[in-house]
Amino acid sequence: MSAQILAGKNFAAQIKENTKRDIDVLKRDYDIIPGLAVIIVGENPASQVYVANKHRACAEIGIYSEVIHMPASIGKDALLDKIASLNENDKIHGILVQLPLPDAMKADEAEILNAIDPAKDVDGFHPVNVGKLTIGDEHLVPCTPAGCMKMLEMAGIGIAGKQAVVIGRSNIVGKPMFHLLLARNATVTVCHSRTGNLAAIARQADILVAAVGKPNFVTKDMVKPGAVVIDVGINRLDGKLVGDVDFEQVKSVAGAITPVPGGVGLLTIAMLLSNTVKAACLIHQ
Ligand code: GUN
Repeated sequence: MSAQILAGKNFAAQIKENTKRDIDVLKRDYDIIPGLAVIIVGENPASQVYVANKHRACAEIGIYSEVIHMPASIGKDALLDKIASLNENDKIHGILVQLPLPDAMKADEAEILNAIDPAKDVDGFHPVNVGKLTIGDEHLVPCTPAGCMKMLEMAGIGIAGKQAVVIGRSNIVGKPMFHLLLARNATVTVCHSRTGNLAAIARQADILVAAVGKPNFVTKDMVKPGAVVIDVGINRLDGKLVGDVDFEQVKSVAGAITPVPGGVGLLTIAMLLSNTVKAACLIHQ
């Protein structure tokens, strides 16, 4: 039996449709147009594509958006000044600094992300929002893990009482995923580069989330028959986009699996739009 393929397209379309409905109500009844500012520093080609996609998605559903492109040579202080002015800008409800930052600025990443007003932190990376997530207050949740959870919910996949294994402990995906799954009463294990016997632990999972950034890392022998496999990886291999899961192998054992491309990645932008509208509602409430 081959796994159910969880294609992101239909889920993302549904989230966008619901978000657009909320935007229409905000405009009609409250005269509020949600606004998003995306700051991109330097010339990373992949980041440029992601940012253009975010800008286009905003336009499609009626979110005002600004892309602020700064040269890699810009100093930290100029970037902090820009963030401060966006924090004060009433047209802007969401602020996002596209990562990765240029190498020369990497050491300043925490200071830069911390400068964003937590109420406008649609990435959910500010320590205030990270802290809220750890105590079960899902205020502004990082978009990729939020998209994974939304997909599980929309696909009708139960979480309570399940064994969930997350491979990867990044601040952007692995750690928030742990909190979100735990909050829905899964028993959650987080594996990482120093985990011993990772394959045996992964094989316990009813829900397996791969977020390691290594192409085809999860192989058939690491997956319990019938498990739900969520692949968060986006890797380039021989000019092709591939996930962290060896899709061709694993689809013959899994019960359900997300493809790459065309899986949870599509929900990331949809959740960014949703977070921007949520921030607008919370700021104006
Ligand atoms: N780069 C890759 N993913 C993300 C994300 O979710 N947010 C930001 N700001 N940068 C990213």
